[in-house]
Amino acid sequence: MDAKANGTRWWHGATLYQIYVRSWRDTNSDGYGDLPGVIAGLDYLQWLGVDGIWLSPTMPSPDADWGYDVSDYLGVHPDLGTLADMDKLIAEAGQRGIKIVLDLVPNHTSSAHAWFTDARSGRDSVHRGYYVWADPVKGEGEAGGGPPNNWLDAIGGPAWTMDDASGQYYLHNFLPSQPDLNWWDPRVHEEFRDIIRFWFDRGVAGFRIDVAHGLYKDDLLRDNPPLIGGGRLDGGFGLRPVYSSHRPDTHGVYRDWRKIADGYPPQRLLLGETWMGDLGMLASYYGQNDELDLAFNLPFVFAEFNAGALARVVDETLAKLPAGASPVWTASNHDISRFPTRWGGGDERKARLALLVLVTLPGTTTFYYGDEIAMTDVAVPGELRRDRMSPGVGTEGRDAERTPMQWDPSPSAGFTAEGVTPWLPFGDNVRRNVAAQRDDPGSTLNLCRDLLALRRTAFGGQVASYERLPARPGVWSYRSGPLLVTANFTDHPVPLSDPHGESLITTDPEAEPGVPLGPWQGLVTRAARGPQV
Ligand code: GLC
Ligand code: CA
Repeated sequence: MDAKANGTRWWHGATLYQIYVRSWRDTNSDGYGDLPGVIAGLDYLQWLGVDGIWLSPTMPSPDADWGYDVSDYLGVHPDLGTLADMDKLIAEAGQRGIKIVLDLVPNHTSSAHAWFTDARSGRDSVHRGYYVWADPVKGEGEAGGGPPNNWLDAIGGPAWTMDDASGQYYLHNFLPSQPDLNWWDPRVHEEFRDIIRFWFDRGVAGFRIDVAHGLYKDDLLRDNPPLIGGGRLDGGFGLRPVYSSHRPDTHGVYRDWRKIADGYPPQRLLLGETWMGDLGMLASYYGQNDELDLAFNLPFVFAEFNAGALARVVDETLAKLPAGASPVWTASNHDISRFPTRWGGGDERKARLALLVLVTLPGTTTFYYGDEIAMTDVAVPGELRRDRMSPGVGTEGRDAERTPMQWDPSPSAGFTAEGVTPWLPFGDNVRRNVAAQRDDPGSTLNLCRDLLALRRTAFGGQVASYERLPARPGVWSYRSGPLLVTANFTDHPVPLSDPHGESLITTDPEAEPGVPLGPWQGLVTRAARGPQV
């Protein structure tokens, strides 16, 4: 059956909003955002017009990687709240028509997880096979005793750590305290089926799946080949991770989970973190529209901020996705510099143009908290940094894009109680904050709210059809469902070529209708042809 036709895929045409929970709102004055803080922000998100919230990891964790090192998949991190808070959040969000999506980390656990503690207790332990173990290479002198292959972890060291007690190495593609699970063991599949059902049964509307392309590893543990000519999305530290990730068997996991997810009313969402540069490979994670429902599009995130580069990624993505599938667009997340900085260099016109594009592309769109007020990266001084994975991800680490939400201009930014030191420093919350922008009809926040309302009406819960239209150099023009979008990615005015319908939204509230489109200005009108809004 055509998934679109039955209208039950709640993420089609929808807006997801990523909350980095520790940075959203702190209700018990410990400097960390928490689940009651997410509940406190629901009215705001309803006002803004979001359909679903993706929460950064909420499960218990020693926080070597801020929750991406899970020690219990069926619980809630005590810093963030309790299972009762999670149930309450799901219920309260539901009352506002908002779905809750959790972050699931199936590639690795924390070394503090009971499975690993047991696995480490001896070669014959029950859970030994849950992880990837290998003997040291044989040989004399320098050749002997080393790790089984050349794989490197996320900070550039060997991906293998020796477990002295058993004399074997275990695999970790990220930090040594994040041992990789062994998906060749059927019991790991059973465990995750149970975990998934546990949360779906509680009303969780889906999962964002961490390192979705990583689960299976080459059974022969072959060396990764050198990375020649590829970029950040194709590998790291000089290696292309073709044997340590992207293995064909991983697709079977999603076909299996998809059956579980589709069995729930309404269907649950499987949204993968698919970190790869090749759009054909990205599309393969949708299978025949029977694997992931959505796969994050990193080539879009890392495209240059110009009409040609962005439009090319969109064209190629849409051409490659299987029938019935929805693309998903995002521009920032907790691993990547915020787009108002990365694309916009702090120029709010560029941030607004990016937002207009994000919201008018067909499929699902995703905001990262603060995008709607054009929050920029925050320079976090060395001594205040909290991200330990920095060397693998970029010299400065990822704290710059994880700072507290800027709610108001007060000294505590409306994030925590006065006098409490937040876990990461505040950005310039006097210059940019929700309270001030809410009161200003011309603000970026109100632009986003208008855009989201338009998106809802125009797309009506469907994946809109998309057609790229001819345009001058530097201008990206497209029809998306009933909307006609013209985006000027140049720093000079451009005339509008075609007769345009009624102007619905522009990124420049001062602009007069009918005159040329200003530098970095975007405009949405009613398409002259096709369905009307
Ligand atoms: C993903 C997460 C990132 C984390 C890594 C290891 O890339 O987005 O934050 O460090 O996986 O779990
Ligand atoms: Ca707190």
